[in-house]
Amino acid sequence: MRTKIVGTGSYVPEHIATNDDLAKIVDTSDEWIRTRTGICERRISEGIGTSKMASRASRNALENAKIKAEEIQLILLATSTPDHHFPSGACEVQADIGAIHAAAYDISAACSGFLFALNTAHSFIQSGCYETILVIGVDCMSKVVDWSDRGTCVLFGDGAGAVVMKGETGTEADTNASGLLHMIMGSDGTKGSVLSCEARTVGNFLTGTKPNFGTVAMDGQEVFKFAVKKMPEIIEQLMRESELTIEEVRYFVLHQANYRISESIAKRLKVSMEQIPMNIDRYGNTSAGSVPILLDELNRQGRLKEGDLLALAGFGAGLTWGAALVRW
Ligand code: UT7
Repeated sequence: MRTKIVGTGSYVPEHIATNDDLAKIVDTSDEWIRTRTGICERRISEGIGTSKMASRASRNALENAKIKAEEIQLILLATSTPDHHFPSGACEVQADIGAIHAAAYDISAACSGFLFALNTAHSFIQSGCYETILVIGVDCMSKVVDWSDRGTCVLFGDGAGAVVMKGETGTEADTNASGLLHMIMGSDGTKGSVLSCEARTVGNFLTGTKPNFGTVAMDGQEVFKFAVKKMPEIIEQLMRESELTIEEVRYFVLHQANYRISESIAKRLKVSMEQIPMNIDRYGNTSAGSVPILLDELNRQGRLKEGDLLALAGFGAGLTWGAALVRW
């Protein structure tokens, strides 16, 4: 079986928070944020939660794929910021869009979540379990950032992206035919503390645990160092294992964490920034949403031509990393 991405969709909240807006609540400046990260503004949800954003992105993806919600057999939703511990966000999307025949569950791999979900969907299709899968990457980071910590609150934004994947007869080995050609996933749990967010609890009367409201804690420089080393490594591994070359890749669709991280990846891979599309200036880091939002933008702008080779890659808390090679 081959796995094809047959439709893309995305949704970002309407409210724009500029760097100047954030400079009113923490000691920062537009100049610092732009030069250190490439971010100019981000979208912040005003009451639209994680699942609603995901549903809106999903509807757009289904429309783009010309597929009805009833045809979806599995919904995989990657997020670290669900609206509820249970039911899962995937079940809420299922109810919202009317995907009555689907099984649905969430996947947690932070900013790598969409790639982990994409790769999981690919495996289900390869194994013959399912043929039509909706994969969503979504995060509402505004719920979990500490709005008094200038080191993290300026980086993140809210948003959702989705793709519809379909199994088609053919073999993965034919690298010229369109579909997902190869994938990589990895984790290093020993580095969990460099980027974390404690789960929210309401306290426990037996242990005397007090309620806590977990927020993002990050060692930015450690994450930066990890990303600029790991991203080129996994892209090179992806190409080597697929017996294709970096020169054959049209676009590197990378997790939007910091413009300087992407520049460093471009330098290491010896490719131009023209091949590394960015939207971090407008959305900041939308965590699991970033890769599918960018993919949807490229698709809707008509920049993806049949036969184009795309290397998708992301990294995040865990630490985790993932990549996928797609022939469009
Ligand atoms: O999905 C993965 C999520 N995370 C990431 O990808 C994060 C990766 N890391 C980064 O992007 C960068 O490390 C940051 C953007 C977070 C920070 O940039 P940096 O160049 O590594 O800055 P720094 O942490 O070395 O801080 C430099 C200075 C410090 O002041 P002092 O100690 O030199 O006086 C910080 O306190 O900048 C200060 N600073 C700020 N100043 C103004 C930190 N945040 C801000 C801010 N505005 N928002």
